Amino acid sequence: MAIIHDAEKRTFTIHTQNTTYQMQVDPYGYLLHLYYGRKAAGCMDWLLTVADRGLSGSPYDAADIRGYSLDYLPQEFPVQGTGDYRSPMLIVKDINDAFGCELRYAGYEIAPGKYSLQGLPAVYADSENDHAETLKVFLEDKRLGLHITLLYGVLPDLDIITRSVIVSNRGEKPFRIEKLQSACLDLPFGDFDLITFCGRHAMERQPERCALTHGSHVIGSRRGMSSHQYNPMMILADHTADERSGRCWSMQFVYSGGFKAEAERDQYNQTRIQMGLAEEKFSYPLAPGEELVSPEVIMSYSGEGLAKLSHNLHRCIRKHVCRGKYRDAVRPVLLNSWEAFYFDFDGDGIVRLAKEAKELGIDLLVMDDGWFGKRNSDFLALGDWTANEEKLGCSLAELISRVNEAGVKFGIWIEPEMVNENSDLFRAHPDWAMVIPGKKPVLGRNQLVLDLSREEVREWMYKAVCSVLDQGNIEYLKWDYNRSIADVFSHTSDDQGKVLYDYMIGLYSVLERLNARYPDVLIEGCSGGGGRFDAGMLYYTPQIWCSDNTDAVDRLIIQYGTSFGYPVSAVGAHVSTCPNHQNGRVTPLKTRAAVAMNGTFGYELDPGKMTEEEKEEVCGQIEAFRKDAALIQNGDYYRLSDPVSDNMGAWAYVSEDKSQVLLCAVIIESRGNMPAMYVKADGLEPGAMYRIEEDGRVCAADAMMDMGLPLPQPGEDAHSYVYHLMKI
Ligand code: GLA
Repeated sequence: MAIIHDAEKRTFTIHTQNTTYQMQVDPYGYLLHLYYGRKAAGCMDWLLTVADRGLSGSPYDAADIRGYSLDYLPQEFPVQGTGDYRSPMLIVKDINDAFGCELRYAGYEIAPGKYSLQGLPAVYADSENDHAETLKVFLEDKRLGLHITLLYGVLPDLDIITRSVIVSNRGEKPFRIEKLQSACLDLPFGDFDLITFCGRHAMERQPERCALTHGSHVIGSRRGMSSHQYNPMMILADHTADERSGRCWSMQFVYSGGFKAEAERDQYNQTRIQMGLAEEKFSYPLAPGEELVSPEVIMSYSGEGLAKLSHNLHRCIRKHVCRGKYRDAVRPVLLNSWEAFYFDFDGDGIVRLAKEAKELGIDLLVMDDGWFGKRNSDFLALGDWTANEEKLGCSLAELISRVNEAGVKFGIWIEPEMVNENSDLFRAHPDWAMVIPGKKPVLGRNQLVLDLSREEVREWMYKAVCSVLDQGNIEYLKWDYNRSIADVFSHTSDDQGKVLYDYMIGLYSVLERLNARYPDVLIEGCSGGGGRFDAGMLYYTPQIWCSDNTDAVDRLIIQYGTSFGYPVSAVGAHVSTCPNHQNGRVTPLKTRAAVAMNGTFGYELDPGKMTEEEKEEVCGQIEAFRKDAALIQNGDYYRLSDPVSDNMGAWAYVSEDKSQVLLCAVIIESRGNMPAMYVKADGLEPGAMYRIEEDGRVCAADAMMDMGLPLPQPGEDAHSYVYHLMKI
């Protein structure tokens, strides 16, 4: 049993393979958090301290114990209104516009298997194979008629605990939810670093680590999307924690809309971290009988450093978030037309690319933006999802057949959540776009966002995508989303505070229907590159274009940051041409392939412009990739250097039995008379010897993990090294 309820101590304890999580109902019915850390036994209420603290008020019922204050006791679901002045998870406004809520324990349920969430993506796992269990703890505020269900999903073998919250109105009067977070963790003692993943378009998920000081460190997105700027993922770690040692806790949001994540160090040096829905542009009314479900947070703890933490998250996302045929199947190697042609192509050009792709050994040709309506630039036609036959020189159905006849699969780009003012769709349904009446809308890439909180818009979007996919044998769809939401307004909603949340429910419902109707179509998520790279989208699209930046050196950092929370199988990565279109850098073709293989692997260039020598090299790369694809997709991933500070990006994939290792490194800048660079291996079997296939060296695992493996002099910038280590 992973979940244990102790009726006498009034505790709930969750044990996973290496961790323990515990909470307790106190004598007044408040739910206190006791512990989340390495596996431990017994009741841990001895961790609580009570002292008379000035200006920290007591709940009315606890007034006899001076100093019993929720202002410093660790809590499981802190709400605004209990005398806890730290940042709350829930803020409720009642019918008199008064703030204040007081929740008391009201029961529990333990069930086998992992809960799912109505309308929202969530980790899935069963009781039989995964030993998953669910804990529900109920809280209530009798005055408001407000009922809370705290949900805990436990995947014991993976050291994963998920959390979500359901708020129900079981009273007689409406109230409004002004803030709702999904998970919180109070740690009573310790000095910590916060690791977040921030960035911008074409430079997403740069890791940033800083010591927590008093006050709050907040990241989030007010953009209605998870965003390029801050990924919905954070790690709290000991100052000394590194890849191989130290304590670290993570929270990761299974949601693609706006979010808030906060780490707070309080007056007594205690730490609270929490994650949930963005507060801005959110104010959700609940009438009697209604409820609101918060998106899920995935939590994990590792006492053995960041590599172990990432392994827990990778396993969870790979097998318990991603779904469908391509969860396990090796992904097709693809050629995307975007950087080859941008908007400037015709059907013959696409067929030529398909033929070239076939010769190189590529599986799939993707026709990117520009194939529909009058779309020859990004000023128009989003919404008009019928093929531009004049431009293609044939129907879409014919083009698909011609590409298939060339011997490759066909994939297509779409951006169905958006509309240009200059489109037939907008002319027919101007009120489907989110525009505030009387206000000029903010434009992003000249486009507006469709109002997916509306049922008829969802229905239209579903049918529009189906009508494209039904044109022929389309085996891949790139689902793009190229702006942030600025103007939140639905012409039919009775309450604008609901719209952003309802938008996501709408998007997910359409994706769910499409997944069900087209189980064999691989959908790749995209949002101006990696602007919606989150576990929510991965539930519907098992891979996401990681960044519009295809430069191998910048990608070292982007993919390094991404790897903390997301598996390689989720990371869309392609080889593109040089000089690179985003930053002008020239890198060796070999390096571009090594870096793109640290992802789903494909190409984004015009093979017609390559020399014969380059084509031969590409054929070799694809052959090599096929041999290693299973190890790359399913192996344990180790970060072996920090490319932000190390002049080197290095990483390895290690098979489960540790017999096979693929170790890759890129030295970023070559220098004169350079000191030798060493890569410290990780995850090898202690005591074992490994042969390096490429140069025949036979090396002790322990020495490679302790001193490192020396790399030959690079002789050029961005030189790469790919080594297969076989256990002997
Ligand atoms: C976004 C994507 C690109 C490409 C263009 C097409 O920027 O990230 O890969 O598909 O849109 O307009």
